[in-house]
Amino acid sequence: MPQALVTGASDGIGLEFCKILAERGYDLILVARRQQLLDTASRQLSADYGVRCEVIVGDLSLPKAAQKLFDNTQERDLRVDFLINNAGLLQNGFFTDIDLQRQEQMMSVNMLALTSLTHLYANDMRARGGGHILNVSSLAAATPIPNQNVYAASKAYVLAFSQALANELKAVNSGVSVTALCPGFTATKMMDNPDQGARLSIPSILLQPAREVAQQGIDACLAGRSMWVPGLANRVTSWVAAVLPNALLLPAVGRFYRKNMR
Ligand SMILES: NC(=O)c1ccc[n+]([C@@H]2O[C@H](COP(=O)([O-])OP(=O)(O)OC[C@H]3O[C@@H](n4cnc5c(N)ncnc54)[C@H](OP(=O)(O)O)[C@@H]3O)[C@@H](O)[C@H]2O)c1
Repeated sequence: MPQALVTGASDGIGLEFCKILAERGYDLILVARRQQLLDTASRQLSADYGVRCEVIVGDLSLPKAAQKLFDNTQERDLRVDFLINNAGLLQNGFFTDIDLQRQEQMMSVNMLALTSLTHLYANDMRARGGGHILNVSSLAAATPIPNQNVYAASKAYVLAFSQALANELKAVNSGVSVTALCPGFTATKMMDNPDQGARLSIPSILLQPAREVAQQGIDACLAGRSMWVPGLANRVTSWVAAVLPNALLLPAVGRFYRKNMR
């Protein structure tokens, strides 16, 4: 059976990735900090789809977290055919008011752990002749975002890194595909989490279901696309952001976020 490792598997889009992969016959390695949620998901997925699930509890903001996770899977002979770097953190609010440690944690999870895991597993996949890596970026990568500036910059990093790496790995016929998934507003706890500073209030009609986002991400990755924006409205937004100069776009984005943030 093919095997997938999903970070941030305890909740939201990550849990949906796990359900869809289990439906398609993948054994799973579920990674996040909250053990109870991971154990419940693991039991449920095994019971519903007959797949094997391994739980690895870990905080990806800690130093060397990616190397420890990789070593753990190597020692237990857990092959990874499909890596989904989904774990992510968000901080909303005025840059100088947000606790610096939280911003550093966000950068560690969103960029450092993602890059290190990609490096470690891409090497392993290359040696075996193939594999898939799906890195979760965001529509926030399309433009700088005032009051969400470190988050948006971290997601722009994920997009640029993943697209360039996809090209590199394709050029040498490595058999390893890399995809950046850029969801817009999605109905998960990330849209209403008191640990994230200010709350960005978005009408529920504008939120895409997490399952739809996860499904499109997996399909795009298996199809070998280097980037995918799920949902037509989000794709239109990303096209508009690509053609408008920042001098026009940034003030409007800034006004939108300030108006809708409490
Ligand atoms: N929701 C949106 O509107 C939206 C839009 C665009 C992109 N995204 C991206 O989609 C991804 C998933 O977000 P979501 O909306 O599903 O959010 P979520 O429901 O808050 O889930 C975030 C996941 O990341 C895990 N995580 C957070 N910090 C971690 C850490 N230090 N170590 C290990 N795992 C950690 C969480 O698990 P534990 O708390 O158990 O560790 C949880 O499983 C993120 O990369 C996010 O940036 C979301």
